[in-house]
Amino acid sequence: MSREQLIEMTRNLIEHGAADTMELADEVVRVPASAYTDPELFEQEKSKIFKRLPLMVAPSCELPNPGDFKAMDICGVPLFLSRQKDGEVIAFLNMCSHRGNPIVEGTGNAARFMCGYHGWTFKQNGDLIGVASPQDFGSIDKSKHCLTRFPVHESAGLIWATLDPNSTLSIPDYLCGYDSLLEAFGLEDWTLFSQRTLAGPNWKTAYDGYLDFYHLPVLHKDTFGADFYNRANFFAWGPHQRLSAPSKMATRVGSDVEEDLSQMSDDEIPHDALLSGVWTIFPHISIASFYGGGQRGAMISQLFPGSHVGESFTTQYYVMENQPETEEDIKSAHEQFDFLEVVVRDEDYATGKRQHEALQSGLMKEVLFGKNERGGQVFHGWVEKLLAADEAGLADMFAPQQAEAAE
Ligand code: FES
Ligand SMILES: [Fe+2]
Repeated sequence: MSREQLIEMTRNLIEHGAADTMELADEVVRVPASAYTDPELFEQEKSKIFKRLPLMVAPSCELPNPGDFKAMDICGVPLFLSRQKDGEVIAFLNMCSHRGNPIVEGTGNAARFMCGYHGWTFKQNGDLIGVASPQDFGSIDKSKHCLTRFPVHESAGLIWATLDPNSTLSIPDYLCGYDSLLEAFGLEDWTLFSQRTLAGPNWKTAYDGYLDFYHLPVLHKDTFGADFYNRANFFAWGPHQRLSAPSKMATRVGSDVEEDLSQMSDDEIPHDALLSGVWTIFPHISIASFYGGGQRGAMISQLFPGSHVGESFTTQYYVMENQPETEEDIKSAHEQFDFLEVVVRDEDYATGKRQHEALQSGLMKEVLFGKNERGGQVFHGWVEKLLAADEAGLADMFAPQQAEAAE
């Protein structure tokens, strides 16, 4: 974790806050409205972005113990994660090497896996150890029929996997050093309090909202309040972006008292003030801190495209530094989580769905991202760039950025 980098960003936010300014992009950017509605483009996004790039598949605390597993379906790719005895996580294609039946469903804990179709068994590490009725089945080399693995990487309390077993893109390279900053959340020692999945509009329509403070005091006037800042400065590491409101004031976790950060030395700035705002991980994650149930908490939103261009699904993971223990704290943590569900479901996604239906009329050719909406500009720029990149170009695209981030 680089506290210096976090301090540098915080100083930027303090200075702009004190001067009542924000960093603006160079120009207003236009994105074709069809980028949100074209079913063919949507298919390309699934294959060239979601099935080709590392995705944050689970917070580490969803699989805290050896043997823990979780099955997922991402854009039609069946995947399961399994925490090994030595603590490592392996990501498998969730298909039995006999005839392709999914090996596990949902979540659970298992020392080995038995396929529910004909009973082939696999070790936790995917090795095929038992062919049912081997004397009848015929001879095969078991070592050639292990479960297929996907590239996987765990850092900062988050697990990434790439849904292409043959991907040559290094996941750490792809993260451009951003995960070393995410470490500052300390998520590897946190616990999962609750999770739920919400249906939303087109995945980019939904994701735009996470990269946008401009809408906060308007769309969320009844929940966050009409005096919420609508300005954000943006910081980028490759396609991954953090956005945070320029402000010299901050409240310490668990307190209502505003403190003037501009009067503090670097050492005095509270840790939580360094993590303000929304931290997004391209192409589909947003992380924001919240306080509830007497604990530090964070909402991790994980977005996936649905089965058609106008549909997405978001899993909200509410992670907490410690599990709340008293009844009152548990209740208040649930209330905090329910509140965030209402904000996203009834305000962001309800608006996104209306916006999507209107865009599908085809009568508007372009949508606009203002100079104050750099997050959306950068996001849509990367989507276009990644759709145009061939297989070989991907690794090249991320290797130099990684070096740049480490400078
Ligand atoms: S498909 Fe798994 S044992 Fe037959
Ligand atoms: Fe919103």
